[in-house]
Amino acid sequence: MRCAVLGAGSWGTALGGILAAKGWPVTVWDIDLEVLEDIRISGRNSRYLPGIDLPGTLTAEAALSVAVADAQLVVLVVPSHVTRRVAEQLGPHLHPDALVCCAAKGIEIDTLQTMSGVLHEVLPTRTHPQLTFLSGPSFAVEVARHLPTAVTVAGTREAARRAVQEAFSGPSFRVYTSEDVMGVEVAGCVKNVVAIASGMCDGLGFGANARAALITRGLVEITRLAVAMGAQPVTLAGLSGMGDLILTCSSELSRNYRVGRGLGRGRPLGDVVAELGQVAEGVVNARSTLALARRHQVDMPISAAVHAVLYEGLSAREAATALMTRALKPETDG
Ligand SMILES: NC(=O)c1ccc[n+]([C@@H]2O[C@H](COP(=O)([O-])OP(=O)(O)OC[C@H]3O[C@@H](n4cnc5c(N)ncnc54)[C@H](O)[C@@H]3O)[C@@H](O)[C@H]2O)c1
Repeated sequence: MRCAVLGAGSWGTALGGILAAKGWPVTVWDIDLEVLEDIRISGRNSRYLPGIDLPGTLTAEAALSVAVADAQLVVLVVPSHVTRRVAEQLGPHLHPDALVCCAAKGIEIDTLQTMSGVLHEVLPTRTHPQLTFLSGPSFAVEVARHLPTAVTVAGTREAARRAVQEAFSGPSFRVYTSEDVMGVEVAGCVKNVVAIASGMCDGLGFGANARAALITRGLVEITRLAVAMGAQPVTLAGLSGMGDLILTCSSELSRNYRVGRGLGRGRPLGDVVAELGQVAEGVVNARSTLALARRHQVDMPISAAVHAVLYEGLSAREAATALMTRALKPETDG
């Protein structure tokens, strides 16, 4: 299967590596010509995945039209805020029968659309049944090193999600399928916000009890929002829900966790983000999550607390106190 990967950052390169390790010819495309040159010349992506050799069947191409020509599978892995722009460029070159797998996670801030909503708006109608969405607990660096990883591919058309499952699956990368695109997408976005809260918790030195409670209650509010938007509750207990949430909330490898930890230690947001040098999508996701919670009239106290710390001048400690002293209620409140 001829594959094109749009986005040669950490996740795009790791996913390209998984496909190429299966023997598929893979072409990665990006706007960053230096990264593409590095991949072509050294067989590595030194900027995003230093020290990792990429399979020989992975190549890089600077022209999108060439990268996707004859591609039977196109994987979209640019940051979510540029997915619309890249999909607009892709549309005219996309083969009508090509499978499209979006591995970007996020909700567009202006429109509050999930990536699925964006792609349905931008890509030709005939390609919509071919759309799939990959998510789950997967740090790029571990996938690139072929450490065991399991993810979910969601899509409305069974043949499409099964074909993408087959294309990616191998000894170190196990893919499950799901029909629940909304559940998989909302979980993949909002977990970044909870990860910031989890980092704050650790930055404040709150300990393991607090983090376990936060992850659990975080999952409750992610589920509330996802179900209000049409998801199946069971999806949120799966790899793209609980799985990804546990991963993101408990590891230094998570950029969002590191942002939260810096804030918990009392550092200004600007300094923490500048030090990171890469996009921490939870910082933007906090705004879209809160806007969606308001639109769907869903109570999301942890996300609201993160928003208040990021954008409303509350300190992490004040936010934690406010969360702990809210009105008491049953654990399952509908
Ligand atoms: N890194 C991970 O472990 C991981 C895991 C799962 C999902 N994701 C998701 O994958 C997506 C990409 O994340 P990442 O970690 O690879 O990001 P990254 O910052 O490592 O790389 C992003 C890449 O996109 C390119 N890019 C930016 N704007 C572009 C444009 N307009 N046109 C073409 N290319 C452009 C950049 O040059 C860069 O190479 C995000 O939505 C993220 O949530 C990441």
